[in-house]
Amino acid sequence: MFTESQLELIVDALSETGYCVLHEGVSSSLSTALLESALERKDFRAAGVGRNEGRVLDAKVRGDELVWIDGDNESELAWIDMMSAVQQYLNRTLYLGLFSFESHFAHYVPGAYYEKHRDAFKGQSNRVVSCVTYLNSEWRDSWGGELVIYSDDGNTLIKVLPERGTVVLFLSEEFPHEVLPATEDRYSIAGWFRVNGSQHRKVDPSR
Ligand code: OGA
Ligand code: MN
Repeated sequence: MFTESQLELIVDALSETGYCVLHEGVSSSLSTALLESALERKDFRAAGVGRNEGRVLDAKVRGDELVWIDGDNESELAWIDMMSAVQQYLNRTLYLGLFSFESHFAHYVPGAYYEKHRDAFKGQSNRVVSCVTYLNSEWRDSWGGELVIYSDDGNTLIKVLPERGTVVLFLSEEFPHEVLPATEDRYSIAGWFRVNGSQHRKVDPSR
């Protein structure tokens, strides 16, 4: 669980710059349990690009494989609880009206990457805040695999190594970002706080 002061830090950063990096945001015991949980999952699938009918598999755009987190064990439930506390705090302090949280484990094999993209386009998505956390027990600078976050006009804002327990939050519509290839297998969780899809007068797409 985040402490009150970590939650305050998240809110301040999101409202001031729109993004936030917390080192040791997730405890090593929970990160370890989540990695174990990911490694036990046998249903990882190649990630698609786009939603629903427009969905295609394109490893030239993104090479990760993913599996959704549904709270099937204690560590996944602890993760969901932790994010639900963030959701409540953001709603209470920033009035974001976040309605739900969805997240998946992601596995990038060596050499896999995710090209520069946005998680949401204005008016087209109900993803409001993106949240990423990293699970590898060890990560060395020379292994690569950084998350690079860009400003709206394309300047590099920050490069984050996928170190265990680091949590990155950012406004989904505001920041193009990419995952650089690594020399090792890279395990993470990517998640999104969403508003209710009916606010856009469309049927809420299932993932
Ligand atoms: C994503 C994403 C970042 C990361 O899954 O949309 O941008 O560092 N992931 O894994
Ligand atoms: Mn993304």
